[in-house]
Amino acid sequence: MRHPGFLLCGVALASSLASSGGQSAVTGDMQSEASINRSVDSILARLTLEQKVGQLAQYSGGWTDSMTGPGQRRPDLIDRIRAGTVGSIFNATGAQLIRQLQEIAVTQSPTKIPLLIGLDVIHGFRTTFPVPLAEASSWDPDAVYRSARVAATEAAASGIHWTFAPMVDIARDPRWGRIVEGSGEDPYLGAAMASARVRGFQTADLASPFTIMACPKHFAAYGGAEGGRDYNTVDITERTLREVYLPPFKAAVDAGAGTTMCSFNEIGGIPSTANRQLLTDILRTEWGFRGFVVSDWGSIGELQQHGIAGTLADAARLSITAGTDMDMESDAYWRHLADLVKAGTVPESVIDEAVRRVLRVKYRLGLFDNPYRWTDADIEKAMLLHPDHLAIARDMARKSIVLLKNENQLLPLRKDLPLLAVIGPLAADNDSPLGPWAAHGRADEVVTLLDGITEAVARTTRVGYARGCSIDTSGTEGFAAALGLARRADAVILALGEGRDMSGEASCRSSLDLPGSQQALLEAVVQTGKPVVLVLMNGRPLSIAWAAGHVPAIVEGWYLGTQTGNALADVIFGDYNPSGRLPVSVPRTVGQVPVYYNHKNTGRPGDTANNYTSKYLDLPLTPLYPFGFGLSYTTFAYDDLRLSAATISTTDSVHVTVRVRNAGKRAGEEVVQLYIRDDVASVTRPVMELKGFRKIPLTPGQSREVDFVITPDHLAFYDQTMQYRVEPGTFTIMVGPHSAQVQSRILTVR
Ligand code: GLC
Repeated sequence: MRHPGFLLCGVALASSLASSGGQSAVTGDMQSEASINRSVDSILARLTLEQKVGQLAQYSGGWTDSMTGPGQRRPDLIDRIRAGTVGSIFNATGAQLIRQLQEIAVTQSPTKIPLLIGLDVIHGFRTTFPVPLAEASSWDPDAVYRSARVAATEAAASGIHWTFAPMVDIARDPRWGRIVEGSGEDPYLGAAMASARVRGFQTADLASPFTIMACPKHFAAYGGAEGGRDYNTVDITERTLREVYLPPFKAAVDAGAGTTMCSFNEIGGIPSTANRQLLTDILRTEWGFRGFVVSDWGSIGELQQHGIAGTLADAARLSITAGTDMDMESDAYWRHLADLVKAGTVPESVIDEAVRRVLRVKYRLGLFDNPYRWTDADIEKAMLLHPDHLAIARDMARKSIVLLKNENQLLPLRKDLPLLAVIGPLAADNDSPLGPWAAHGRADEVVTLLDGITEAVARTTRVGYARGCSIDTSGTEGFAAALGLARRADAVILALGEGRDMSGEASCRSSLDLPGSQQALLEAVVQTGKPVVLVLMNGRPLSIAWAAGHVPAIVEGWYLGTQTGNALADVIFGDYNPSGRLPVSVPRTVGQVPVYYNHKNTGRPGDTANNYTSKYLDLPLTPLYPFGFGLSYTTFAYDDLRLSAATISTTDSVHVTVRVRNAGKRAGEEVVQLYIRDDVASVTRPVMELKGFRKIPLTPGQSREVDFVITPDHLAFYDQTMQYRVEPGTFTIMVGPHSAQVQSRILTVR
């Protein structure tokens, strides 16, 4: 007998998921902002200085979840909660544990203020969804919204109030391990994904059940680390900061994100944690952000390592005055803020404002009305791995798969081949498909590629499996069995890639090659002459130039989560026509990095026919696969590209319309992409920038007109004086299936 509450929740969940159009920013609780402010002020008035500082202290629990940073659970943590000097706990989940902690905070402490419970719910909680880089490959914000809704539902049912997500860092260097956590190289696509995830986590009313507070991170430009090495120096212009790295954060704030997390890195000499221009001038004054900023793990204390704070007290002073409100795990605020106030170094009003921001978030979440809202063990049990969630996860996973190559239409495979070989270290791996930051995802609940293939084929088909080699060691002892199986098979599905610990935080690689002896296995299997389908499972673009030249079919699977095998089988056997498109360029080799589509033209643009141009002697100019690329089992034709006006003013908008036709024999989805280029401007502009996309289903022979509106905001940029404006001149308007294949028209702005 299902819990009565479950049926209610299930219905509530179903309705919230169904209305994926629930696309408005947070509004439900915003009307009560005046009353929230009054309540917050009345609480503040009765707090001692020490209790105020306690609200700005956050610690990792580690009771039920692993530590996600360089620290251990503090033995005095429960005592501190009982004393009312802890504002937030993270890495502690489970309805029962959270109820216990919350009871201590609201019944035993002198402040009676509820704890804010956080966790990294990055791509699912127990039902694990594709990693964010994979979800971005869907180019489907509505699907991503539903993914975030499920993640929020399961996390909230397990006592979580707040997720340290979405990670919205733009990444142009695939050596950087955290590229897996974001939405790739493009600000426009990144902004669309950031907005969808914030709305999916928070919905329109944070106080309703099954919502969690979002926390777009890592503010800002964390992905710009030199050498693609995590935590490394970022040195970019303000123009690059604003045009490349900030748009996804702005979209997240506009979607109503209640918090944000500052990043470990410096930008041009100033670490984000102590960067007032970033945390106060831009985030609050320019953008109107009204939530609070949490540091990253220990990033306040690390101002000492950066060399801009001589002591932990200095670090606390610099951070709180820049606009970092809550201290994750460096303990700098707890140890020093009260003394800094007493010494007159930090005004108590600064502390008060930070505490107000934290308390407002707790009110918006409804924690003061019901601190135990998320602590019903029956609902928790009913919601985790709910069949609806698994179905949504399978749909998200299928949409995240990118078909990179399909020579002679090898795919989709028949389901009734006599013998199908499934080979490779990722084929039966149930752990790697979870990807980094898998929260409570469990390997034993993952449908592996082998499982999915075995489940999907006809009863008469035999499926053979051989691991062939490990992911990252050089051994070849498994080759013989694998090659023997391949030679007997009618087709080979070869699953290669990276282990889940080879991307994510502090997991950067100096090479983009297939690790270990996988390349050797790949070449040996291809050498058998059998039809080979290469399935990649990886957390970053890999340099698969050899495969691109020798393997007939290549499927980019990233890490697809709990439903990996079912989603891959759906695509491999044609039950789903792949619709994914690359959110990031794929380099030919690591030596080509950074390579991204929205680059500048330079004064000597690359031209292999002309020596004195920007090129390599030993490499073509283009990436292996371009941004926005992905194949389908059908083909699409574009024609009749037209503008509603050839000339407009700097304040006008213009419609761009194109007709897209399914020219093949199978239904499929096309991602129609709109790019623009400002041909001549007062500063150099990228050769193209994504400014719109539409994913449309088309049946065979069906045509649809796709209409985009270009507004002044799409044409504007930061000029030499950093004024954001549209300059008169010509713009090349481009539409097509990806960044390397477009039709264009010229728009004149007077
Ligand atoms: C880590 C990560 C951050 C995460 C936090 C809490 O160091 O940088 O993304 O949210 O700590 O786990």
